[in-house]
Amino acid sequence: MKIKIFASLTIVAFMLTFTKAHAQTQSSQALEAKISGIIKKLTLEEKISMLHANSIFGTAGVPRLGIPGLMTDDGPLGVREDLKEGWASANLTTDSATFFPNGSALAATWNPGLAYRYGHDMGEEARWRKKWIMLVPAFNIARTPLCGRTYEYYSEDPFLNSRLAVQAVNGIQGQGIAACVKHFAANNQEVERGRVSVELDERTLREIYLPAFKAAVTEANAWTIMSAYNKIRGVYCSENPYLLNTILKDEWKFKGIVISDWGGTHSTVNAANNGLDLEMGSGGNYSKYFFAQPLLDSVKAGKVSMAVIDEKIHRILWVMYHTVMATNPPAGKINTPEHSKTAYDIAAESIVLLKNEQHLLPLNTGNLKSVAIIGDNATEMFHLGGFGAGVKARYEVTALAGLQNRLGKAVAINYAQGYSGVYKPQRRDTSNKYNKPDTALIAQAVAAAKKSDMAIVFVGGNREWESEARDRKDLTLPFGEQQLVDAVTAVNANTIVVVVAGAPYDLGKIKKNNSTVVWSWYNGSENGNALADVLLGKVNPSGRLPFTFPNELKDSPAHALNAYPGTDLKVEYKEGILVGYRWFDTKKIEPMYCFGYGLSYTNYRYAALHTGKTSYTKAENITATIKVTNTGKYAGKETVQLYISKPNSAVERADKELKAFKKVNIPAGQTASVTLSIPVKDLAYFDNKTNKWVVEPGKYMLLAGASSRDIKGTASVVVK
Ligand code: GLC
Repeated sequence: MKIKIFASLTIVAFMLTFTKAHAQTQSSQALEAKISGIIKKLTLEEKISMLHANSIFGTAGVPRLGIPGLMTDDGPLGVREDLKEGWASANLTTDSATFFPNGSALAATWNPGLAYRYGHDMGEEARWRKKWIMLVPAFNIARTPLCGRTYEYYSEDPFLNSRLAVQAVNGIQGQGIAACVKHFAANNQEVERGRVSVELDERTLREIYLPAFKAAVTEANAWTIMSAYNKIRGVYCSENPYLLNTILKDEWKFKGIVISDWGGTHSTVNAANNGLDLEMGSGGNYSKYFFAQPLLDSVKAGKVSMAVIDEKIHRILWVMYHTVMATNPPAGKINTPEHSKTAYDIAAESIVLLKNEQHLLPLNTGNLKSVAIIGDNATEMFHLGGFGAGVKARYEVTALAGLQNRLGKAVAINYAQGYSGVYKPQRRDTSNKYNKPDTALIAQAVAAAKKSDMAIVFVGGNREWESEARDRKDLTLPFGEQQLVDAVTAVNANTIVVVVAGAPYDLGKIKKNNSTVVWSWYNGSENGNALADVLLGKVNPSGRLPFTFPNELKDSPAHALNAYPGTDLKVEYKEGILVGYRWFDTKKIEPMYCFGYGLSYTNYRYAALHTGKTSYTKAENITATIKVTNTGKYAGKETVQLYISKPNSAVERADKELKAFKKVNIPAGQTASVTLSIPVKDLAYFDNKTNKWVVEPGKYMLLAGASSRDIKGTASVVVK
């Protein structure tokens, strides 16, 4: 009898799977039929009109056939306000949105589930605003800590970037909105970004700068991708056949649209034939764009075939049917409490506790009568700014407001500005011009600190100091902030330093002289509430640094090798695969704070690392398990990081490479058994000689750590 039931269940399961797959084939066949039907009806002029911008973020549709235009929009921190031509605000009252924490903050959560929620909510807000392609997520590798867009991007590690990118894209596209992963590829500096040629070997490109884009396309099926402004090996990314045709469209089977960065197209025939599908830009005479009249002329002259044009139209219609022309798409939503909760959860999990040696944190309000809140960054708002990354937040809770919300009347708050974070970049900017202490403001801050039981000093950058279109010149804390910290610390033994920024700064003196240091970010609409909850212990900090903080800039690979910002419009990635911690660990250079570092209000004890087997074939997955016990009195979220190392490798390899991680919530006194999995194929290196991925047989070390330099357990496996 049982066998009969089992057999019939198996048949039902098969039928259901077959039906689903059959339905999918049906629907893709039906879609193909629809698309080719439309292509047959379009005139050449109508096709050309679909291949270039006709407004600052939009393209023309073909009203005659009921084809709508495509509307794109920025940006990584939220759906931006509507603009008029020329990038001026449209000054509407209907376009405010949720301000999500910046990219490196999301990376500092090490939580792909939050990346999904970020994408999901961003997608809902985009749909509500009728923006069919979000120019999000941005995740170029942090190669130099000076890059102005480090705050927009994720981390220095391709694996961490990949895991977050996949979930962000899944979240956005689940709402019938196209993600546009950017900037493809190797756009790792702002200096001369529009002209510089990145020179790097194939292994470096494949192992470091492409993986997150490959994951977004092949695992999350990203519907659009933005070609970067820069060149790679002398050819602009927007017309680079190796990048766009060979790798993206042929190898990765990308079915969507390659969109140029704004004003990043440099030719008609080359760009059209080498893989660009849609030319975007802002202003100017749109009919003179490379993909407008010049492309029409080039087709008529036989320099660009109709097949090439039709392939672009196919891609654009394919994306339209998934977005603006989707049948019964999800409803859009804007500024909902759920979106605020997502912004809060990301902010709360992004904050990194760097130092707490006097245990001033969490704050014990029982014996706290007054606290001095000092620093421009305590009242600064971070939602606007940064060109494509500005968002008109419906609201933003500042750090001061968050503490006022949480402390209420119980504790007297003495605020002092301490410094002015005003920075208007000049063409010939010399950073130290903006680094003069304001003695009057410092005196006021010292007075506030003297009369308070505790002082919390907010320093760091802001959305002008860190921005697209320019890199910082050094890692110095600007606006005389260091002098402020020194002066306040000298008069109040209970001084806490909170750094608010999106990229590494020189915290050397603070690390040495201050007992309590917290790193926060441009942390979204709920910034102040999340920070206050961490400082007060309602949230146990669980952020882990997404990039290395060098003791000195010259310790960073691109600077150690004098390989930034390049000369004669060429920047050679001399460090190769040794970017970030790969460099510091391989060259045995002590960083100020390492990749993956962060403390907690509790402590964790790790037991031994075990693997499922001691030897694996290349087709298998390595499973590793380690028990982690929370030995303190606070529940906490710990991120177990699993790195691999290859002793006696046939090729140069980094000292260690991140290949898995898992963030687990562990109640006080409890033990979690954490299991991680690494596909053996992920151990491969890219061989420049054969242009193939190679999994070297032999022994590999697995290193389980609380950070890249705090290794808790190791195990070895053999790959047959
Ligand atoms: C910019 C940026 C890009 C942005 C686009 C539209 O220059 O590089 O990230 O999405 O233009 O604002």
